[in-house]
Amino acid sequence: MSYIMSGVLRPGQQYAGATGDQGVSYQRIKQAGVDTTHGAILYLEDIVVSFDGFKAINHLNLDISVGELRCIIGPNGAGKTTMMDVITGKTKPTSGSAFFGQTMDLTKMNEVEIAHAGIGRKFQRPTVFEQHSVFENLELAMKMDKRVVTTLFARLNSTQRDKIAAVLDLIRLHEHATRPAGLLSHGQKQWLEIGMLLIQEPKLILLDEPVAGMSDAETARTAELLNELRGKHSIMVVEHDMGFVTEIAQQAKVTVLHEGSVLAEGSMQQVQADERVIEVYLGR
Ligand SMILES: Nc1ncnc2c1ncn2[C@@H]1O[C@H](COP(=O)(O)OP(=O)(O)OP(=O)(O)O)[C@@H](O)[C@H]1O
Ligand SMILES: [Mg+2]
Repeated sequence: MSYIMSGVLRPGQQYAGATGDQGVSYQRIKQAGVDTTHGAILYLEDIVVSFDGFKAINHLNLDISVGELRCIIGPNGAGKTTMMDVITGKTKPTSGSAFFGQTMDLTKMNEVEIAHAGIGRKFQRPTVFEQHSVFENLELAMKMDKRVVTTLFARLNSTQRDKIAAVLDLIRLHEHATRPAGLLSHGQKQWLEIGMLLIQEPKLILLDEPVAGMSDAETARTAELLNELRGKHSIMVVEHDMGFVTEIAQQAKVTVLHEGSVLAEGSMQQVQADERVIEVYLGR
């Protein structure tokens, strides 16, 4: 499989202009945040994760472009969650490299540093503050964002209120803003948690099985939500629900993982027609 995009420099490689005429240094770009000057937000290269000799991830190569919505599918045990563990620093790879943009080496950062750098993750089970209202949950998430200089008891300013209102609209919970989060349906809690991620403006969002346990109507609305986020955020979504993946994969690339490496990559139509993918996953 060819994964090196034409014209894309691998992280760590020198690129023209980095210390060039304008005196723009690598370091200055890095300090401004994640350096996506080459169009990619994430590079996983030849990653191996070995658990007592068992390779849960086996020479995995994967790149995500800025603003891309990437769907990851594959059978149970394929290594999808483990890949997210590597990206978020929960699991250190045995070998290989993982870069956030051109310059941030994820294998040398801990989970907190990676979250602060702008990678947000949603686990399968919603973890909202049940006693607090929907609005307060978003407010708390905003105040937990280390980039925001505020205290938990400070009043929100109008910009912050507007931001929460915009997220409430996006996650379709405006009418439920004052309800305790504990009274929401499972799907609504999942949306709230996505909202709590969005409010912190992560540059890369990882969603592990976001529609698991949702009703059909909630699943359809989640697909709409992700389609609205497309282009504005870089998102990696792992899902087994093929109806949902088909909905969001219209203009997206799908990666099929199997036994810890990429089995196929392409449009939904391409991977659905791939004999190997049918054999190990879709045909079951
Ligand atoms: N901490 C661990 N120690 C040992 N083996 C592990 C560990 N974490 C994951 N594994 C194994 O690694 C493989 C990949 O697991 P992973 O959870 O990444 O799969 P997945 O693709 O997310 O599967 P699913 O679709 O069921 O969620 C599995 O065989 C799993 O048992
Ligand atoms: Mg998993």
